[in-house]
Amino acid sequence: MFSTEICKILNIQYPILLGGMVFVGKGELTAAVSEAGGLGLLGAGGMSLEEIASELEIVRSKTSKPFGVNVPLARPDADEMIDVSIKGGASVISTSAGSPKRYTQMIHDLGCKVIHVVSSVTLAKKCEDAGVDIVVAEGFEAGGHNGYDELTTMTLIPQVVNALKIPVVSAGGIANGHGFVAALALGAQGVQVGTRFAATLESGAHQNAKDAIVASRDNDTCITGRTSVGPTRSLKNSLTAQIIKAENEGMPPDKLMEMIGGGRSIMACVDGDCEEGTVYCGQIGGLVNKLITVKEVVETMMAEAQEITGTLSSLSSPTK
Ligand SMILES: Cc1cc2nc3c(=O)[nH]c(=O)nc-3n(C[C@H](O)[C@H](O)[C@H](O)COP(=O)(O)O)c2cc1C
Repeated sequence: MFSTEICKILNIQYPILLGGMVFVGKGELTAAVSEAGGLGLLGAGGMSLEEIASELEIVRSKTSKPFGVNVPLARPDADEMIDVSIKGGASVISTSAGSPKRYTQMIHDLGCKVIHVVSSVTLAKKCEDAGVDIVVAEGFEAGGHNGYDELTTMTLIPQVVNALKIPVVSAGGIANGHGFVAALALGAQGVQVGTRFAATLESGAHQNAKDAIVASRDNDTCITGRTSVGPTRSLKNSLTAQIIKAENEGMPPDKLMEMIGGGRSIMACVDGDCEEGTVYCGQIGGLVNKLITVKEVVETMMAEAQEITGTLSSLSSPTK
């Protein structure tokens, strides 16, 4: 059921991808998503090359199904990250935060598929021209770094699908069967999920960060960084209040960067300080009300999607 083109390309059962998540998407979560029939993507953004290798060892010890690694291209050692990932058994490299042009051929030459995350039609077209296999189009609802154009999933996906020949995966705001079916209805061939998987038993996030996502409501996230590090969606807390105040007072970008610093995500997701640290979380966090296993997330999403498509199909049946 719900086997789409991306299932064939990635050799997976369900068209569900784990979004790369820094300090959250470690080996255990990656393996759990692959084992449940989706594609686990190691969130390698904050890992050293040695850590990537050892987390991939964990993945291989827990699943024999395909998995990949998310490599933010802003990292100066992106080449080495890709090399270590492929040596560690990744069959897919998901790239983000940079141009897909430089690395796509190299990754293909090493026998792997390339997925690139975009937030606009223009960037999506560049990916297709660069030869990437699948584009993940991510709406502004998503947790973590967002696009500057602030396009929602609802508006972005059909426009990207319209503009491309290669398959598109929808990200941002998907946490259950309703979101899954909506993504497919918009023309996507699958979904990439972040926030829902961040609050699972296998997630690598600190317990406090998981609990904060579970406790969050629809309007508990905000965007900071528009004038400095780029738009970033996280849970509202003491840190975001300080940043927003400084932004409204016109603090220059370099001072804002200093204030935000480099370790806020570690502070929350590793050390558990969810007031002074950054808990990336999407607007769909309000729907995430319980810590459950990855298998439950995937199976529930698929069962709900099956039921919803049945209901929709009965709605469109000709009346007797
Ligand atoms: C805790 C967290 C960390 C994230 N870190 C990254 C990252 O390191 N690289 C990346 O490309 N995207 C990152 N994202 C975005 C996700 O990969 C995914 O595309 C997004 O969460 C999907 O939207 P959703 O949160 O509404 O499910 C992160 C998201 C969250 C929630």
